[in-house]
Amino acid sequence: MDIRETIDLVEATTRPAKLETTPLPYTHKALEPVMSAETIEYHYEHLAKGYAKKYNAGEGNANFNRAGNFLHNKFFPQLRAPKGANRPRGAVLELIESKFKTYEDFKIAFKEVAMAIQGSGWCYLSTSGQIKTIPNHQVRTDICVLVDWWEHAFALDYEWDKEKYLDNIWKIINWDVCNERL
Ligand SMILES: [Fe+2]
Repeated sequence: MDIRETIDLVEATTRPAKLETTPLPYTHKALEPVMSAETIEYHYEHLAKGYAKKYNAGEGNANFNRAGNFLHNKFFPQLRAPKGANRPRGAVLELIESKFKTYEDFKIAFKEVAMAIQGSGWCYLSTSGQIKTIPNHQVRTDICVLVDWWEHAFALDYEWDKEKYLDNIWKIINWDVCNERL
């Protein structure tokens, strides 16, 4: 287990007195047109911060709120403003090509797994190159590239069209952040 996984494991197995939501490294409008300011305001400001607020207030299910906070703190800082082709590079590209041949093949495989999720959850590329799913919220120690697959992540911008949300989200993945996880 490397240092990053160890840090995640410590986070996962401890119950801190207080949780914090990681600040966004971009403005609310920065991810448009892929993800609107309205979605950021609803998803980040209201829902993501809500997990920490509820946990800190002792409300609701502590494990659920703890994991929701953990996953959203992975998800939002891993996004960036859309720019050009935004293809992966470095270690994450090597991982993708070693497991899926090409980035295009990886995206097809990812979509297949994500579309099979019933109900709310998450889909991610693990640090060992597998595409994995998370029902609802759970802390995982092997996340490399994480996609929020709850309806609240896409409904305002894409209505029912989850596939379109996924096709577009690759334009705003910050691959530098993913590379830091490898
Ligand atoms: Fe979410």
